[in-house]
Amino acid sequence: MNYILAEKKIKDVINSRCDHSKILAEVVDFLYKNFGHYSWVGIYLVEDDYLVLGPWKGLHATEHTRIPIGKGICGSAAASGKTEVIPDVNADSRYLSCFVTTKSEIAVPIKKNKKIIGEIDIDSDIKDAFTRKDVVFLKKVADMLGKHI
Ligand code: SME
Repeated sequence: MNYILAEKKIKDVINSRCDHSKILAEVVDFLYKNFGHYSWVGIYLVEDDYLVLGPWKGLHATEHTRIPIGKGICGSAAASGKTEVIPDVNADSRYLSCFVTTKSEIAVPIKKNKKIIGEIDIDSDIKDAFTRKDVVFLKKVADMLGKHI
């Protein structure tokens, strides 16, 4: 799907729901269904010193449902507040493996008033799957979520 159209549709989802958990679940579903290179999509929320898995979509469940801030790709992004784009997960020593098929990953922090409250995490079965367009788009999605949840 076209990224501009996707951004608009996600904005509509966020504006038309008041239940936060429903918004998160619908955004996850939307991303998973509309982008073929997004093989697993999940949203983690910060609770104390952990990222706790919220809604997710993919073929399999992950064992990493509670990740300490600072650990793995997800925990690193949450600790620094910076998006992590990993073109080859097997070349990154921080990587916490979930699925044997995963080749690349992106983790985008969700901030509310500059505080990190969660993260969008996407795995791809394609190596180096995430382009500049994905980064810009997913940062916008994270911004919209941060403002509304
Ligand atoms: N690979 C992540 C763990 C979460 S799963 O990808 C769903 C990491 O290294 O933090």
